[in-house]
Amino acid sequence: MSEPKFLPFALPDIGEEEINEVVDALRSGWVTTGPKTKQFEADFAAFLGGDVEAIAVNSATAGLHLALEAIGVGPGDEVIVPSYTFTATAEVVRYLGADPVCVDVDAATFNISPAAIRAAITPKTRAIMPVHFAGLACEMDEIIAIAREHGVKVVEDAAHSMPTYYKGKLVGTLDSDVTVFSFYANKTMTTGEGGMVVSRDKDIIARCKIMRLHGISRDAFDRYVSKTPAWFYEVVAPGFKYNMSDIAAAIGIQQLKKIRHFHEQREAMAERFDRELADLPLILPARAKDAGSNHAWHLYPVRLKPEAGISRDDFIVRMSEKGIGCSVHFIPLHRQPVWRDGYGLKREDFPASDAAFEAEVTLPLYTRMTEADQTRVIAAVREILSA
Ligand SMILES: Cc1ncc(COP(=O)(O)O)c(C=O)c1O
Repeated sequence: MSEPKFLPFALPDIGEEEINEVVDALRSGWVTTGPKTKQFEADFAAFLGGDVEAIAVNSATAGLHLALEAIGVGPGDEVIVPSYTFTATAEVVRYLGADPVCVDVDAATFNISPAAIRAAITPKTRAIMPVHFAGLACEMDEIIAIAREHGVKVVEDAAHSMPTYYKGKLVGTLDSDVTVFSFYANKTMTTGEGGMVVSRDKDIIARCKIMRLHGISRDAFDRYVSKTPAWFYEVVAPGFKYNMSDIAAAIGIQQLKKIRHFHEQREAMAERFDRELADLPLILPARAKDAGSNHAWHLYPVRLKPEAGISRDDFIVRMSEKGIGCSVHFIPLHRQPVWRDGYGLKREDFPASDAAFEAEVTLPLYTRMTEADQTRVIAAVREILSA
């Protein structure tokens, strides 16, 4: 019998609908930002509800940069970020000449700790960036209350949270200032590369729209459009080139239609993992604890208990030998040379984040996995941990 094929850690779920929509964009002659992007933005805002506006960009990193710029982050400011995140969350702070202030996370959820936020606030704090790790919302009521108390903004890094409910409301419609989603290839819905900035603050939306495309002011343009020739435009700021193409938006339009179904599939798979791995020396992922909250299941992160008798690194090698791709989320910021050395970060100041990293393995969970694929993952984990 031949060896089973390698099961990758993640795969996008692209169907004929996405392909046909992309072909439609290509045949239309409009391939950059245009009607498909406009439709994707409208569909996305309608999906979230709650009177938000949505602006499509070419990555979540670009969106986070735009969001921080729009709320006025600049040199000398501090922005509080969790240490347990991808480097993008912190790097955008530096793009603006401000300093990311890394704080520790909750030991069970790996989400930013409100107590750690409180302890890190200084007169220089301009914003807090909660990251909803793996697709489980942070303690947003507490975080927003701390922010309001100190007059600082909240920019949610919702790269993992499509769709995540927090106390009955979708992430994207909470009372923060801006929320940014990612449509990177491995996310719960993808446009290849892409992101969405969401807010109900008209000033933030207006600024992000201008800065997304070279600082060209559409307002000025629209106001005079009837009197001015089509070639006229005004540049009001040194902006960026962060717009989404209609080719990417075409994929997004169709992915969004499937997101509820994708989420049901992910939830069922997470429940199966929970059931069939429960007796092993593993700490399974944290669950939503509040009524009306859920988990997007972008990731299924487990931790090996000491009695598992195998290191995280060896476990991943063994899984790979069995033809199964795993990953680690995340190598925390305080362990990355740029942040560790640049800000003198020490492991002992991030005990929860550091302990999480040492034991964490992310198992493959995505909608293109078959029942048999998941059976194989479960069998491999059981075999390695029973040895
Ligand atoms: C927590 C977090 N924030 C931001 C990003 C950046 O997303 P993008 O690749 O769309 O720029 C990622 C990407 O994986 C992420 O995991």
